[in-house]
Amino acid sequence: MKNIESKLTESRSYKPSESFEKKANITKEILFELNSQYKKNPDIFWGELAKKHIDWIEEFKTVCSGSAPFFRWFEEGKLNVSSNCLDRHINKNKKAIIHISEDNNKTVITYDELYVLVNNFSHSLKELGLVKGDRVIIYMPTIPEAITAMLACARLGVIHSIVFAGFSSESLKDRINDCNAKIVITVNAFKRNGKIIEAKNTVDHALSLGCPSIEKCIIYKNINENTKFNKDKDLWWHDILAKESIVVEPEIMSSEDLLFILYTSGSTGKPKGIVHSSAGYLLNCILTNKWVFDLKDDDLFWCTADIGWITGHSYVVYGPLATGSTILIYDGAPTYPKADRFWEIIEANKVTIFYTAPTAIRTLMKLGEHLPKKYNLNSLRLLGTVGEPINPKAWIWYQSNIGGKKCPIVDTWWQTETGANMIAPIPGATQTIPGTCTHPLPGIDVDIVDDDGNSINKRNQGGNLVIRKPWPSMLRGIWNDEERYKQTYWEKYNNKYYITGDTARLDNNGNIWIMGRSDDVVNVSGHRLGTMEIESAIVSHEYVAESAVVSYQHEIKGEAIHAFVTLKNNFTEYNNTEFAKELREWVKEKIGSIAKPERISFSDSLPKTRSGKIMRRLLRNLARGEDISGDTSTLENENILAQLKNIL
Ligand code: PRX
Repeated sequence: MKNIESKLTESRSYKPSESFEKKANITKEILFELNSQYKKNPDIFWGELAKKHIDWIEEFKTVCSGSAPFFRWFEEGKLNVSSNCLDRHINKNKKAIIHISEDNNKTVITYDELYVLVNNFSHSLKELGLVKGDRVIIYMPTIPEAITAMLACARLGVIHSIVFAGFSSESLKDRINDCNAKIVITVNAFKRNGKIIEAKNTVDHALSLGCPSIEKCIIYKNINENTKFNKDKDLWWHDILAKESIVVEPEIMSSEDLLFILYTSGSTGKPKGIVHSSAGYLLNCILTNKWVFDLKDDDLFWCTADIGWITGHSYVVYGPLATGSTILIYDGAPTYPKADRFWEIIEANKVTIFYTAPTAIRTLMKLGEHLPKKYNLNSLRLLGTVGEPINPKAWIWYQSNIGGKKCPIVDTWWQTETGANMIAPIPGATQTIPGTCTHPLPGIDVDIVDDDGNSINKRNQGGNLVIRKPWPSMLRGIWNDEERYKQTYWEKYNNKYYITGDTARLDNNGNIWIMGRSDDVVNVSGHRLGTMEIESAIVSHEYVAESAVVSYQHEIKGEAIHAFVTLKNNFTEYNNTEFAKELREWVKEKIGSIAKPERISFSDSLPKTRSGKIMRRLLRNLARGEDISGDTSTLENENILAQLKNIL
């Protein structure tokens, strides 16, 4: 911990404008009130919010029960998440989804239309024999049918697990098998950067690798593209969907019944299936959409995240739809066919709230401010960022060039595990500073502690970010792996805190600055990847003997991957750029494009301790162009450092 001393200082700060403050859902006074209510009595605080914002079939009696690491929320309550997202918003002629495809086709779907689609698709799933608690994999891009599939599962109490459509067949197979899914729902193909990606082929390949639990594959014909059709397993979406409207009674779900599993990377090679419950998850999604995004009836909210990530779950689907808002979704690349695609979409549709990742902002910033200048972005009133720390330069660019200096920026810190925003500004109340996600939201009790679990009182001294009290949308565990859940998130401090795995510091004004991960997880373009996962993909290549993966700072991606590789003796001749290319493709095939190493260095061996452990710390120094720091006395093969320095 001693080493985590921050050198970042930022003195620019921005108060909410008077006009924003006046109309904000949460003013300074309301924020103060919420924080004091929570302090007085957390159960009353959460209980009242849950009663107010969720439509219950049967109301709960207890608010929070259990003890760390297993908490239960609103235990006796009964509800259905899909009816909270649909049934209560119909007959109002309200738009739910505006979908723009990469080809620039626009589809508008009202809540009434989405209600019919979801009911009809629920009926189809029911006819296939799916019942409450079954698992379904959704392998689709961010299109209305993916949202329909999610809500149809929720209507039946079927647990969905979305696999990002950029993941490879191996990754897909691992996830299918981990949760024993019965059905996979996919598209025949989709377009990305103008190229056709044949998603159904990836599913076929995954199934050919061995997915015994899969009974059926449902294919939505997303674009005009032929696909192989296997009569035993495959079903066309349009064939099984009822032609007339059929109402499916929503399954009565207990608050703690699982809503979804979402796989994310950890510090071992195997992804973790993070599980979320129904009521608690829904509550924090609703609250943060109203509090942090200030969502109102006439807003058009565009969160650019793919539904394959938690941000897509909470801020494309469940949060905005449960609040009856209108969302915009775009399933193409940010710079296709032109670099100003995002700005064009904002102007054409009059988007009011825009939420994206720092990587996207940095990419678009690099392309030049003349691009957003061509468009009238005046409809925007609030901007957000998520997924990784945003550097002040990108923050200021975003604020001036996209927000016209009038939009507050909410830098939201949270995780797949937390389900919803945890630390973020309240736009009508919080003074923001570029680079900090500011303060915990009402009801979220965070601390920064040293390795012994003591609060760090010294300002600007880094430590481990922990959450001290349970909150409704917290993960309920890891699918099928209770031990790993306890060990990863709770054991270090004897169940006293939830351990986020991030390091952070508090500045002199009480703002929280996220400093990075404390484990072997890297954050590439806002996507979490386990270095072990990438290492095991690399070493599964027949030429490779060993590999160690570390990250280094990257101008656009935030962090990028540097793989150090040694080859088996008889393959050393392959130690060249051609083979590096092949190895990158190999990683793409094993995991997906996002995991491809930016740099690969080949060497005779890797720096190891006498007991044979790879000293990743030294490789990190090398990859980052730093001097070798810390003790090297345990290093067995000193010469290797000189060799590695030479080749970098
Ligand atoms: O390291 C933090 C970083 O992303 C991690 C969570 O990744 P994931 O579960 O994939 O969820 C991403 C979207 C919520 C965190 O542990 N992170 C997320 N938001 C921020 C951030 N780092 C700095 N600032 C943020 N606003």
